Amino acid sequence: MSTSFRAIGVIDYKDWLNPKEFSYEPQDLRDNDVEIKIEACGICGSDIHAANGDWGEPYAPLAVGHEIVGTVTAVGPNARFKVGDRVGVGAQCDSCKSCKRCEKGNENNCKKQVGTYMGKYEATGKPSQGGYASHVRVNSEFAFKIPESMDSNFVAPLLCGGITAFRPMMTYGVKKGTKVGINGIGGIGHMAILFAKALGAEVTAISRNDKKKELALSLGADHYISTDEEDFATKYEDSLDLLINTASSFSETAIDSVLNLLAPYGQMIFITAPPITDKLTLTPFQMLFNNISVGGSVIGSPKDIEYMLEVAAKNDIKPMIETLDINEENVKTAWERMTKGDVKFRFVLTGYDKYFGN
Ligand SMILES: NC(=O)c1ccc[n+]([C@@H]2O[C@H](COP(=O)([O-])OP(=O)(O)OC[C@H]3O[C@@H](n4cnc5c(N)ncnc54)[C@H](OP(=O)(O)O)[C@@H]3O)[C@@H](O)[C@H]2O)c1
Ligand SMILES: [Zn+2]
Ligand SMILES: [Zn+2]
Repeated sequence: MSTSFRAIGVIDYKDWLNPKEFSYEPQDLRDNDVEIKIEACGICGSDIHAANGDWGEPYAPLAVGHEIVGTVTAVGPNARFKVGDRVGVGAQCDSCKSCKRCEKGNENNCKKQVGTYMGKYEATGKPSQGGYASHVRVNSEFAFKIPESMDSNFVAPLLCGGITAFRPMMTYGVKKGTKVGINGIGGIGHMAILFAKALGAEVTAISRNDKKKELALSLGADHYISTDEEDFATKYEDSLDLLINTASSFSETAIDSVLNLLAPYGQMIFITAPPITDKLTLTPFQMLFNNISVGGSVIGSPKDIEYMLEVAAKNDIKPMIETLDINEENVKTAWERMTKGDVKFRFVLTGYDKYFGN
């Protein structure tokens, strides 16, 4: 068992695009915990928000990364895995397990939850560090067995992006013929297309321009709407039952126009997590005259994640990825390219053994 983990992350938020290596002393291995030697980690849009200070600057150094796959290297006496198991970890690594929300199985809404990064362990006050690192230690209830048929690099993005895309579809009860729109075709948006198609939905991809049209259709989308098309909001009105908004900025997406795409009793669900000071302007008249509702959704509970992995394995859901070996230079490149929207559609960091050794 290691007493020091190596990681790559933000040393100074003002210079966030120059990530550097650092070492940190991990949280003690508690009775329920597992220690995982990391093999792959997806780069979620949230990594960028966290690293660039969109969500504040709680501590540095900060290693982000919460789409982790690796092998268990140490276990506490009550952990639910054994050394050698291949497991995955998403955006949450602990919860209180005693509040009303946890008791109901909504651990992802626990107010005392610990994020895989940007979290704090209550008992020790230690900050959590994510998956751009040699190892990670988490409560084993927030680690998940990876189905044998799934490749580590392809399954990594599902652990945050996949469940975030899938959970609103579970809540709505998407089934054959449900008309699902996905606004923002990035990492999560493209996974949402794959899951919605697997559930039999009629899928509309919605993007700021027509650059992603061919790719979205090749992923299975039935229709494509470009929001720079004049009159798109009236031309395609009433065409959706459920609209999942994954676009990482409000300012660049015409939210009130996009709402016009919902048929009566339709729902728009935000999964986007923009800078904490961002406000959303909505017109109540638009909502009431159309009987539409607007909500939000955050990742999924451990049970939801297990179900999502089952659905993904059964339907052979494979995100479109670009792999990069982990090192300071490649993390920088990935972050720069993501900021420009230059990735189809998820970066996955690999080559951990090469960089961190054994
Ligand atoms: N709720 C949750 O539990 C949860 C979990 C994970 C992530 N998130 C959040 O979900 C959002 C999407 O994450 P992601 O991993 O899919 O990110 P991503 O790969 O960067 O995709 C974001 C998409 O947003 C659209 N967009 C709109 N305005 C933009 C702008 N100014 N700059 C760049 N893109 C813009 C783009 O789609 P088009 O080019 O098609 O318009 C882009 O592909 C992020 O805010 C992330 O923090 C939430
Ligand atoms: Zn994420
Ligand atoms: Zn709780």
